[in-house]
Amino acid sequence: MRVLVTGGAGFIGSHLAEALLRRGDEVICLDNFNDYYEPSRKWANIRQAQQSSAYTLIDGDFRDVALVEQVFARWRPHRVAHLGAMAGPRPSLARPLLYQDVNVGGTLVMLDAARRYDVAGFVLASTSSVYGRSATPWSESSPSDRPLSPYAATKKAAEVLATTYQYQYGMPTTIVRFFTVYGPRGRPDMTPAAFVTPMRAGRPITLFNGGVGVFRDWTYIDDIVAGVVAALDAALPCEIINLGNSQPVELGRFVATLEHVTGLTARIEAQPLPTADPPITYADIAKAGALLGFAPRVQIDEGLARYWEWACREA
Ligand SMILES: NC(=O)c1ccc[n+]([C@@H]2O[C@H](COP(=O)([O-])OP(=O)(O)OC[C@H]3O[C@@H](n4cnc5c(N)ncnc54)[C@H](O)[C@@H]3O)[C@@H](O)[C@H]2O)c1
Repeated sequence: MRVLVTGGAGFIGSHLAEALLRRGDEVICLDNFNDYYEPSRKWANIRQAQQSSAYTLIDGDFRDVALVEQVFARWRPHRVAHLGAMAGPRPSLARPLLYQDVNVGGTLVMLDAARRYDVAGFVLASTSSVYGRSATPWSESSPSDRPLSPYAATKKAAEVLATTYQYQYGMPTTIVRFFTVYGPRGRPDMTPAAFVTPMRAGRPITLFNGGVGVFRDWTYIDDIVAGVVAALDAALPCEIINLGNSQPVELGRFVATLEHVTGLTARIEAQPLPTADPPITYADIAKAGALLGFAPRVQIDEGLARYWEWACREA
């Protein structure tokens, strides 16, 4: 099968591309190597995939209608994994128009091309952030109409567009809502890197609410990739599916685990939880289990150990 992966040079996309290549799929990666974080990291992310003859890299922007048209006409992908986006709730407060342009406008460009070229399955990466502050655990039917940040709102808008396209054109579409993904190649703006970097330098880390009452449902990268691959294969008619670990970890325990794994000590600077962040994220993954056979395997101690091993190699 030939899969077009947008954002394929990013954290999750590069792991997905490798997993697809390992099992014999062809991968077309479309990524614009933007500077949300250092582009050199993204080039490093795809180094291994680029060794494969089944891998094609297109360095370009999925908002570019003419380019996207060319990509579909030339490669005729069987499936699309649309992972490319401006990620991160807090930075979206400073650049809401850019988030709108990429996450909503760009998704529409991809949906429209995919339906015109009869793609047999479209998987859209969304986020647990759409649930805002609604009561946990979050199932797919939990309220998601009050996102806390422009990022989350643009992701919700992209979801809504995808369901409209599914309704009008019948393209099999699955929206996967990821819960705090971590592991090797993790984004530098996300918590593991944002803690490990100052811990190594002996600088204090910023801990929201001092680590008390803030829970994240950390989900290991390999588990997320397994869920996305299953969604690509299943090509279900129209579903929204949570991909999380369903075991929220309090931030204080997360730091203690990180200290244990790294042998480093965290100096803590407590700050209030930003308004774009919910206090708890917690996935109900019954639907993912039933429809995709999704069953997360890697728990936080092991996942952070693997992350640390990678971070040491990269340093
Ligand atoms: N990492 C998480 O914890 C998490 C949680 C929930 C949802 N998500 C979603 O998963 C997806 C992947 O996230 P990630 O953590 O790998 O982020 P990432 O920033 O590492 O990857 C996104 C990639 O998309 C590319 N991109 C952005 N705009 C583009 C454009 N206009 N054209 C082409 N490429 C473009 C970027 O260059 C980047 O390589 C995103 O849709 C994100 O919203 C991630």
